Amino acid sequence: MKEKIEAILEEVENFSAKSKEHIEEYRIKWLSKKGEITVLFDDFKTVAPELKREFGAKLNELKNKAQEKINHFKDVFELQNQSSFQDIDLSLPAEHGTEIGSLHPIHIVKKEIIKIFEDIGFTLSEGREIEDDWHNFTALNTPEDHPARDMQDTFYIQTNPEIVLRTQTSSAQVHLMENNKPPIRTISPGRVYRNETVSARSHCQFHQVEGLYIDTKVSFADLKQTILYFAQRFFGEETKIRLRPSFFPFTEPSAEVDISCTICKGEGCNICKHSGWLEILGCGMVDPQVLTNCGIDATKYTGFAFGMGIERIAMLKYKITDIRLFFENDVRFLKQFQSA
Ligand code: DAH
Repeated sequence: MKEKIEAILEEVENFSAKSKEHIEEYRIKWLSKKGEITVLFDDFKTVAPELKREFGAKLNELKNKAQEKINHFKDVFELQNQSSFQDIDLSLPAEHGTEIGSLHPIHIVKKEIIKIFEDIGFTLSEGREIEDDWHNFTALNTPEDHPARDMQDTFYIQTNPEIVLRTQTSSAQVHLMENNKPPIRTISPGRVYRNETVSARSHCQFHQVEGLYIDTKVSFADLKQTILYFAQRFFGEETKIRLRPSFFPFTEPSAEVDISCTICKGEGCNICKHSGWLEILGCGMVDPQVLTNCGIDATKYTGFAFGMGIERIAMLKYKITDIRLFFENDVRFLKQFQSA
């Protein structure tokens, strides 16, 4: 009996079905009422009691393997039947159309800003999202008691208050000046974080582009002309700019830049709150103390810097009124940028 079990087991293991009929043939051969394995179960009654345990296990194993083999090949032929490849014309368009992905509006705007500045000789650089106190604040003339350092605004790393999620891409300026000799002419886009209540107008994460130009004889006129060039390329040739005096700890003098309203062309509308102007960025001449902090000779070099929020620019470009839309990944929103 033992040899018989082993012989059939070998046959089962080597079995490969060529057709549905072939499977049925072997099912009958092994497992039907008079099949070889069924007969062995009948013979099992005559096995000596002390051998029953061993033979019982072997027989069960044989039966299971045979059944599995049959089932396996049944599945294989079933599948082949379902997908008869000869009948499919692979050149036909897909039944439900093809879903095309799209670039995120923030990415589209970021790329456009980079291109505009690269065209006038700015290089592209990258800062860090996790910063230390020196690069995010101290080197940028932001003393310890400055309101910008308030726990309300900054995400600190709990175990080490010296480490923050950067609140501004201006921190990239410090790395750039510490590690490069002038002339430096670069833009640095990236994500920033602030501990703000999320609303239609502000978010706890957003993107900025920082610009920095350090050389001998860089003047405020260079700054103004660079911003005008950017505004007219991005928003259209007829765009006007207006510089308002402002304050940033790391620039002196400082200004905020408005562009003439892209919607009403300066006439006054809801978007520009009837002023005719829209704020787009902050800028100024790099404070000599900041140059010194970063190891640059402030008697020899001057420079300008600017920083703009990409969401703000994108909202103006696409007339989006809720900043949260950029972060919600709602495909109905994102799909609208498919052709951009
Ligand atoms: N870092 C400023 C902010 O987040 C923006 C800014 C203003 C950047 C003036 C600059 C600058 O480089 O010169 O509000």
